[in-house]
Amino acid sequence: MTIANTPNDLSAYWLPFTPNKAFKAAPRFIVKGEGQFYFTSDGRKIRDGFSGMWCSILGHGHRKITEAIVAQAGTLDYSPAFNFATPGAFELASQVAAQFPAGLEHVFFTNSGSEAVDTALKMALTFHRARGEGTRVRFIGRVNGYHGVGFGGISVGGMPNNRKFFGLGLPGVDHLPFPYNPGTDAYTKGEPNRDPSIYLKELESIITLHDPSTIAAVIVEPMIGSAGVFVPPRGYLQRLRDITSRHGILLILDEVITGFGRLGAANGASYFGVTPDICTMAKGLNNAAVPMGAVIAAEKIYKTILDSTPNGIEFFHGYTYSAHPLAVAAGLAAQAVLREEDVYRRAGNLSSFFEEAMHSLRGEPYVTDVRNLGLAGGLSLEPHRDGPGIRGYSLFLSAYEKGVAIRSNGDTIAIAPILTSNQGDIESIIELVRQSLRTLS
Ligand SMILES: Cc1ncc(COP(=O)(O)O)c(C=O)c1O
Repeated sequence: MTIANTPNDLSAYWLPFTPNKAFKAAPRFIVKGEGQFYFTSDGRKIRDGFSGMWCSILGHGHRKITEAIVAQAGTLDYSPAFNFATPGAFELASQVAAQFPAGLEHVFFTNSGSEAVDTALKMALTFHRARGEGTRVRFIGRVNGYHGVGFGGISVGGMPNNRKFFGLGLPGVDHLPFPYNPGTDAYTKGEPNRDPSIYLKELESIITLHDPSTIAAVIVEPMIGSAGVFVPPRGYLQRLRDITSRHGILLILDEVITGFGRLGAANGASYFGVTPDICTMAKGLNNAAVPMGAVIAAEKIYKTILDSTPNGIEFFHGYTYSAHPLAVAAGLAAQAVLREEDVYRRAGNLSSFFEEAMHSLRGEPYVTDVRNLGLAGGLSLEPHRDGPGIRGYSLFLSAYEKGVAIRSNGDTIAIAPILTSNQGDIESIIELVRQSLRTLS
């Protein structure tokens, strides 16, 4: 098929996390987005089964968000992030803080989830130092965790391909075991009913080995997202909170995916009833219309850091684009829509329908596991005999041909409907995925 209005020279642009040679041999150009759909340069309409990349939670081109960005661009395009602020940044921070469990109160803006993670790690180190425990410099992440691509994030992250090319990373990082056993947990609906202590014994051993006085923080995703939607067993996060609190170790929840409604609650902390010390977020914060991330910190962290520095800058960290006016405008508009359209409750109400729809894929070709929580769904596929990842990528391509965008990571597939979807939207996504599975060889 000929592609109209597309670039002749594909060589200069180096695509992220993409097989560049394969893409440039058969490019997929998205030229428009509207509601639940993308439109391609060759005139096709593709259903968005992945909310952009977990981020366009209100769909594409939401009128109120677009208008807010345009109005802001016409009023103030940029003002310095250091020693100046816009009123909107304070308003957005207050609205975000109001959605997290009590005690999490202070919001630091970044431009991505990766920056939010590195900011959170630095906050943890600064906090311990400020209260006279500067020996707490170690971090604990988790196998298969994804915390973005900064050196901090890949160090605490647990996805081998994101780490192995990039040297030694941060020193002093340990990893908790992957809290999911496909042998026993496959096809569980929601949280597996399993004793979480089997996965947390290792934490006690790591703490004993290094001594609590050397450990700054544990960082985990409330639900493992990028690795393919893996849900830890019931009670896991509460237990993790108890152990970390007992040893003076901060708990950081990476809410880049789970923030702003994915689980049918404002965030994973609220959904699981756990109060961490720090949360990171990005994506749905402003519907991804302008890059933005953030970190929310407990009162004790903010106060300790501010009190330890009587004059001058208390936290030597920040970005030229922190609280960028356009990102803030998009954020205020997106947050208003989340409230006005009662999105968290609607997403929660739709989750049992989504669960049944996801699990109807059990028994389709090569499917070895189906998982779900809120409006997040994961599939595992039996690897192709020629190597891992081939079948997952084939499914991604086949789904695109059938007219739905989903995400593959190796042989796991993630599905993340737009949070304002209705049952018909879910049915369409799942049926297109089903047809795509049936094309696999
Ligand atoms: C849990 C988590 N943390 C961090 C990130 C990194 O976010 P970004 O790609 O905006 O840097 C992601 C991205 O998917 C994520 O899922």
